[in-house]
Amino acid sequence: MKKILVIHGPNLNLLGQRETSIYGTTTLDEINRTLDKVAKEHDVELVFFQSNHEGDIVDTVGRASSEGVKAIVINPAAYTHTSVAIRDALAAVSVPAVEVHLSNIYKREEFRQHSLIAPACAGQVSGFGVQSYILGLLAAVNLINP
Ligand code: DQA
Repeated sequence: MKKILVIHGPNLNLLGQRETSIYGTTTLDEINRTLDKVAKEHDVELVFFQSNHEGDIVDTVGRASSEGVKAIVINPAAYTHTSVAIRDALAAVSVPAVEVHLSNIYKREEFRQHSLIAPACAGQVSGFGVQSYILGLLAAVNLINP
């Protein structure tokens, strides 16, 4: 079965209790369970990784290809707006990636309105809450099974 890596960046471990008016009340575990159901319907296997540490995300992206990952779905969270290192890691591996955000980063504070990660991704889904992850996963499935 083809493997898709789902990466959750910093503070997403706090979903469910974190700024619920922006991010909703669904927990990260609930999101992962929902994604697992969608993955089953599409015959792909998901590997989940959450970290609050930039270097750990860089390492995980860098290993993706050698670990047989065929696509990446990533919510880089705050690193979206700051991390040249994660962008470079995504550009370095020959694994297509889809960037996702729960909130619409383009209608929030100015510092959130730019993604350093997007140019290293096939595309981006932003603003649909948990649905952003589902749409991002479907896009990733489509990238590996066109
Ligand atoms: C986020 C948006 C980011 O700006 C923020 O730092 C996050 C979550 C989102 O999913 O909407 O932590 O990536």
